[in-house]
Amino acid sequence: MAILKIENLVKNYGSFQAVNKVSFAVHSGEIFGLLGPNGAGKTSIISIITTVEKPTAGSITINDMKLNQHEKKAKSIIGVVPQEIITHGYFNVEEILNFHSGYYGLINNTVRINELMKKLELWDHRHKRVRQLSGGMKRRLMIAKALVHSPRLLLLDEPTAGVDVELRYSIWQLVKELKKMGVAILFTTHYLEEAEQLCDRVAIIDKGQIQKQGETTTLIQKLTSRHLTLILKNKIECSHPALINYQNNTLEFRVPYSKEMGKFLSELNLQRENILDMKIREGTLEEAFKYVLNQGEL
Ligand SMILES: Nc1ncnc2c1ncn2[C@@H]1O[C@H](COP(=O)(O)OP(=O)(O)O)[C@@H](O)[C@H]1O
Ligand SMILES: [Mg+2]
Repeated sequence: MAILKIENLVKNYGSFQAVNKVSFAVHSGEIFGLLGPNGAGKTSIISIITTVEKPTAGSITINDMKLNQHEKKAKSIIGVVPQEIITHGYFNVEEILNFHSGYYGLINNTVRINELMKKLELWDHRHKRVRQLSGGMKRRLMIAKALVHSPRLLLLDEPTAGVDVELRYSIWQLVKELKKMGVAILFTTHYLEEAEQLCDRVAIIDKGQIQKQGETTTLIQKLTSRHLTLILKNKIECSHPALINYQNNTLEFRVPYSKEMGKFLSELNLQRENILDMKIREGTLEEAFKYVLNQGEL
């Protein structure tokens, strides 16, 4: 079920078009990755979904409600972790989570708040003021804030940018847990390896436009090739068009996913006994991304 549906979204800042006819949907229990270079329009899209910015054109539907007609109700099921850490220096962690629950009419939210503080390792720091927290703890607090009202749609704008390995890993675990609970998750990231591991589907966005979108594995298969390396005992003549490198007795081929490996090997006319070793490296989302942005070749 689509929790978030975006259709032909346009955002102009003055005469500059930051978002150009963007359409995609995010379903319950799905992690959707919005991937693109700096300035692609990712944060603009998130800001429109959270009503911080008004769209120039297009429609946003949240859980079957048009955002512009049911703003308050729609926003009550959205949680957002913004790209920029917003600090409220003088309040402590527990107070902030209590205030934030109040925005959603949750007056006595102690059970949920305690659970989140424990899960996000903020429990021992709950009486610290925000300005006393490290960058990583602030990020955890932003995530806890986004979750106080158990949202059905979670928007994470580069949540792992600049965080250490441990925190990155715990954010991944949390996102996976929320997915299992049926939360729809929209995730923007620069880290393509992370997107490849986490996202069920991705959209690659550049200059405000979605260039490609689809299931992560399908996109990789469509847009990249696997690399086959053969190490031979004895040198052979090879002029196969898929050959991209031949050094000493090592041949490297770029084999499209559309080609069966068995068929490909027969085309090489090799004697099996001549193969000392053989390695296959799968295509990556990073390669697909570079290909889409014309920074690389298949
Ligand atoms: N409030 C604004 N006024 C004018 N231009 C903006 C504003 N916010 C973003 N932009 C521009 O819109 C483009 C997209 O920005 P943004 O959505 O932040 O991209 P991303 O999050 O993908 O890096 C950029 O060129 C940015 O400079
Ligand atoms: Mg951004």
